[in-house]
Amino acid sequence: MRVLLVGGGGREHALALGLSRDPAVDALVAAPGNPGIAAVAELRDVTPTDADAVAALAVEVAADLVVIGPEAPLVAGVADAVRAKGIAVFGPSAEAARLEGSKAFAKDVMTAAGVPTARAYTCTDPESVGQALDEFGAPYVVKNDGLAAGKGVVVTDDRAVAAAHAAECGRVVIEEYLAGPEVSLFVVTDGEAALPLLPAQDFKRVGDGDTGPNTGGMGAYAPLPWAPPGLVDEVMRDVVHPTLAELRRRGTPFAGLLYVGLAITAAGPRVIEFNARFGDPETQVVLALLETPLAGLLHAAATGTLAAHPPLRWREGAAVTVVVAAEGYPAAPRTGDPITGADRPGVIHAGTRRDADGTLRSAGGRVLCGTATGPDLAAARDAAYDLVRGIELAGSHHRSDIASAAVEDRITIPA
Ligand code: AMP
Ligand code: GLY
Repeated sequence: MRVLLVGGGGREHALALGLSRDPAVDALVAAPGNPGIAAVAELRDVTPTDADAVAALAVEVAADLVVIGPEAPLVAGVADAVRAKGIAVFGPSAEAARLEGSKAFAKDVMTAAGVPTARAYTCTDPESVGQALDEFGAPYVVKNDGLAAGKGVVVTDDRAVAAAHAAECGRVVIEEYLAGPEVSLFVVTDGEAALPLLPAQDFKRVGDGDTGPNTGGMGAYAPLPWAPPGLVDEVMRDVVHPTLAELRRRGTPFAGLLYVGLAITAAGPRVIEFNARFGDPETQVVLALLETPLAGLLHAAATGTLAAHPPLRWREGAAVTVVVAAEGYPAAPRTGDPITGADRPGVIHAGTRRDADGTLRSAGGRVLCGTATGPDLAAARDAAYDLVRGIELAGSHHRSDIASAAVEDRITIPA
């Protein structure tokens, strides 16, 4: 199988490693890729959101499967353009990707499907914003309606900050605050059949102890030793299948990766958000544990044959990833700094580039991730931090508490 992978962040490096381990893959091309991905794939240049360019490249490299990593190309209709060339593509249509591209659309689908989620209002003027904030009270949750790379959400006790974010965004979803630990559940689907991957936990805030602004994600671990037994089955039954059925009913079936972001509240799991692609950095840990060949799985989802796919196989143990971010991330990351210590196995490249002379430099906010597995969570955590300690990047920062609460059994579900 010849595979074209679109994107060039940490998630795509993790996907590239998974695809390259699949014996069915005889050629892997990544566009645009990054210096980490270059070790396992041939890199080609492309603008990921340019649908015609990606479709033309898929034809040129004779791809049997195109895997689209990030959300922006999906929302821009890149999967549709590739499918129109008769090439199998893992990633939803632009219509179905609205589940991520518009928070208001996602809420509408959830309401129609009876999916448990926070009560919410979509607001466009200061008056309705004020009413919604007062109805729900603090902590206030204000979400930009459109795509914001995981940074369009403000959760605050300060009503003025919440109102100011709403005014800046224009169209927002304001919703009730959901208290409880968060879970990222990834589901591979062909629109009808659906296979859940191992649940993971992400760390959204930039600082230790969940302090500071939201980021794209500062680290992750899987599986979740504290998760209630039956959680995944419950989410498949109450969230995933009703949502897939509602999208089929609307004539826009969702095929690809359905990312269910949940809060495990006193009343049970509640959806915080849907995404239309693998999460970053959770993919790094989930795929590190997947033994089932990845290309075969994604190809089955892309060709409507997932019902015939064998059950997934997982490695024993746990995986942890810790993001090394550039100085100034998330507000104003500094780029262009030289990096050393990034060539050990397990170091995933997210925002890096290589100079003509071979020097590796930072090229984004999240620069690298130290990703490791181990027989248990504590061992995986130690190994991931060992990788991070070996990385030198001036001004960089990382969280020191990724997976600590889970290792120390300090995560509780509100009673
Ligand atoms: P989102 O982009 O919707 O995932 O939101 C980013 C982060 O904001 C989530 O991972 C949560 O930590 C937080 N968040 C979003 N919605 C809520 C909510 N209704 N209640 C509590 N926290 C939330
Ligand atoms: N890690 C959160 C996301 O990928 O949206």
